Amino acid sequence: MPKWLDNAVFYEIYPQSFKDTDSDGIGNINGITHKLDYIRELGCTAIWLNPCFKSPFGDAGYDVEDYLTVAPRYGTNDDLIRLFHEAHRRGMHVILDLVPGHTAVTHKWFRESMKAEKNQYTDRYVWTDSVWEEPQGMGSLKGISDRDGCCAVNFFSHQPALNYGFYKPDPLKKWQQPMDSEGALATREALKDIMRFWLSAGCDGFRVDMAGSLVKNDEDGKGTISLWQDVRAFLDREFPEAAMISEWGEPDKSLQGGFHMDFLLHFGPSHYNDLFRCDKPYFSAEGKGVISAFKAKYNESREKSGGRGLICIPSGNHDMDRLARRLSPDEMKIAFGFLLSMPGAPFIYYGDEIGMRYVENLTSVEGGYGRTGSRSPMQWDRSLNAGFSCASPDKLYIPLDPDKNRPDVKSQLADGDSVLSEVKRLISVRMDHPALQSGGGIEFLDVSSEEYPLCYIRSAEGEKILAVINPSGRTYVIRLPFEVGECIYSNGGEISVGADTSVPPRSCGFYRI
Ligand code: BGC
Repeated sequence: MPKWLDNAVFYEIYPQSFKDTDSDGIGNINGITHKLDYIRELGCTAIWLNPCFKSPFGDAGYDVEDYLTVAPRYGTNDDLIRLFHEAHRRGMHVILDLVPGHTAVTHKWFRESMKAEKNQYTDRYVWTDSVWEEPQGMGSLKGISDRDGCCAVNFFSHQPALNYGFYKPDPLKKWQQPMDSEGALATREALKDIMRFWLSAGCDGFRVDMAGSLVKNDEDGKGTISLWQDVRAFLDREFPEAAMISEWGEPDKSLQGGFHMDFLLHFGPSHYNDLFRCDKPYFSAEGKGVISAFKAKYNESREKSGGRGLICIPSGNHDMDRLARRLSPDEMKIAFGFLLSMPGAPFIYYGDEIGMRYVENLTSVEGGYGRTGSRSPMQWDRSLNAGFSCASPDKLYIPLDPDKNRPDVKSQLADGDSVLSEVKRLISVRMDHPALQSGGGIEFLDVSSEEYPLCYIRSAEGEKILAVINPSGRTYVIRLPFEVGECIYSNGGEISVGADTSVPPRSCGFYRI
């Protein structure tokens, strides 16, 4: 694993909505470069940039038309390369979003693949042999090609699935090509070419979109794991320092495939939503939340990945509700106490550090649908368009949070009691203590028969730290089976540690043990 991942804290940037420096109402790469010092001062050491490549933007850029060219609305390849340099100069790293599973229909590969005559790209995508035969269980795109066939799709119906082959091709369906067929192997090499291109240009690795779904008819992921192992071997040869983080949600599989870390996802069996995004989230003061199912699943994933459990827990992302939709600022501070003391690299979604709100009732923008409200422009200050852009407000990519009390960076930097100030403090505590960082161990403690408080021990390099977190509105008294030492961080009411430890409402403390 690249050394820098050990204590990395990521900041996810949705480029459309971060900072516009050319007044067209949409964020750009130079805007990100312009704000690097802010991200660094927050304490983040790395950036995950959502797709910034040429695209018809039917899925906000996750429908790539040209993997090797920055979308003109964001700037140029040179701008992106300058961002890499400027980040490196500040000791930071940048990972790009790699979308290996599908392209836009406007991608040159797909335009060629739709042709009736056989060509170099005929087998680049998953096609059936007849327009009347659908690829079962995959969704399909049909009726726009001269070629007689249906093309499988991966997400929206305008995102044709690239062909990496079938793990168990059905012998009666000749169009299901094996993983080692010429077409499937050519797609894999094309993927490596894209990675090679950006890694040579100075990027530090990739967040890989839908990483677990490349090989088809691959129930337990064996085919996709072996594909990524081959990619890992290529990286080990040519770019051993490249970081790979998967959107897969099954670390036992993704880490085997050579990924360094995997995301905890807001869908599937992770119980992530129990924490922040359900009807009675664990981190709300109401104190009716449940965390036991999350802990059990987390421990299971950790065990299955040989105790490594490099699971990145995001504060949010461009696909889910904002943290602030369910939690108050004080509740968010406690939630960040948890997020920034867990193993795996934490990911802070832009704006979550100030508690940006989900903007309700927006019309969908670029395939965002319900996700659009979490993608609104960053709120920098109280000037025009919250300092995001000098364009006229009706030109903004997505409307701003209309609330006149919307949070902003400038005000929160000046307020020692803000969410932003708490996040800064927490990151700096994490940076000072290897036990709190990515690779340290974790053991959840059973100190109470109830769901609150949450207690765990983080450990690394001979250092052991106890985290005691009580998001609820009531006091709990717990008995700790060991002596507790110096407090290295606390927020909220003071936890009085002793034989009977009293944990006041909305408190979070870290102690040496
Ligand atoms: C991305 C989404 C995108 C989808 C299809 C996801 O997991 O995060 O934003 O719509 O993949 O590429």
